[in-house]
Amino acid sequence: MRGVAIAREVSRSIRDCQLTHLARHPIDLERARRQHIGYITALTESGWEVLNLPEEPELPDSVFVEDTAVVLDGLAVLTHPGSESRRPEVKSIAIALSTLLPVASISSSAILDGGDVLVAGRRVFVGMSSRSNHAGASELAELAKPLGYEVEVVTVTSCLHLKSAVTAIDSDTLLINPKWVSPNLFEGYKHVEVHPDEPDGANCVDLGGTVLYGDAYPKTKRRIQAAGFDVTAIAMDELAKAEGAATCCSLLIPISFRSLV
Ligand code: GLY
Repeated sequence: MRGVAIAREVSRSIRDCQLTHLARHPIDLERARRQHIGYITALTESGWEVLNLPEEPELPDSVFVEDTAVVLDGLAVLTHPGSESRRPEVKSIAIALSTLLPVASISSSAILDGGDVLVAGRRVFVGMSSRSNHAGASELAELAKPLGYEVEVVTVTSCLHLKSAVTAIDSDTLLINPKWVSPNLFEGYKHVEVHPDEPDGANCVDLGGTVLYGDAYPKTKRRIQAAGFDVTAIAMDELAKAEGAATCCSLLIPISFRSLV
């Protein structure tokens, strides 16, 4: 067992989701739910025990659990999401996380979405987006520092979250769209760049042993494979209409992170 993954079923109100950079297109709820089941199955088959919380009918974006917390080695930090409509999502995640890790919170005077926080080894990058600000990054830094993490603030453009532009393939390799975030900010890591035809393809999940990835980006997938990684590609295009990607749908708590409970 690699650890516990927290997820949540797709809300029946997902059609009313927040959209920042995408035009609104009808979302087929049943198709989105089938894709979410495919996601959960991929996690399970990769050795993760999935805690799939029941849907929140009144919270359209609540399948995107990533934004509600930042998971560190020995601490979960509950966020104060930048979008007011998403703040009620945190409560049930707090209950689930508190069974696994000590929990702390970002205050209501700051904003932070988990999608803006990239943890790669002991470095934590926080993207300044419409959903996260310097106060949020600063509070996260205070909480993370005693655990040995360094927090760095980075500029990101043209996308919702930092992790729309860059994610970790493993602890020292990043998948990156250089048009949305500067690769120079990530010295010390190996980089795999998205194919220019696939700007939305920078979001993947390191499941340990395989990389979970949307099947809409075959050219970038080949680049990840060429860098030596196994890729598990799944359909996520219906969920992508709600401006969510692979990392958005889970909070991963590796078994080693639970040692302080
Ligand atoms: N629809 C995802 C978000 O805007 O947070």
